[in-house]
Amino acid sequence: MLGELEKSEKTALSIAVGFLLFFFGLLVYAAKGMNIDVPTCVTDVKPFTEGKVIQHAPDRYEVHYLAYMWAFDPMELEIPKGSTVDFYLTSKDVIHGFGIEKTNVNMMAIPGTVAYARYTFTQPGEYRVICHEYCGIGHQDMMAKIIVK
Ligand code: CUA
Repeated sequence: MLGELEKSEKTALSIAVGFLLFFFGLLVYAAKGMNIDVPTCVTDVKPFTEGKVIQHAPDRYEVHYLAYMWAFDPMELEIPKGSTVDFYLTSKDVIHGFGIEKTNVNMMAIPGTVAYARYTFTQPGEYRVICHEYCGIGHQDMMAKIIVK
């Protein structure tokens, strides 16, 4: 009848709402239960013009990465295993990518803005930082290194 929901429509609607709630629950679980941070733009940090490594505690670091054609500053970062690093990223020329292999850190370096991500390095090893946004003839060589000991 017109104006009334068919039984199958009600079922479809219930399933759709159920999925929405389920995925929202997963989002909350990722954020709170697994402590996953989404890379984001921060507005309370002014874009900087050079790279910087600041150690706040034996296992807490704040690193300012400056991307430019065709390198990162700092080129090499050495930290102890178990360190948590706050990454701040900007670019001084064009848009670059910033992906740390073997991690879920993946950001864009955009001139005039600062991107942010936090990561805890629980495994020792060498992590390459790779520019994954085509930025000119030196793009494929644009790389930095993080050494976790
Ligand atoms: Cu920088 Cu590609």
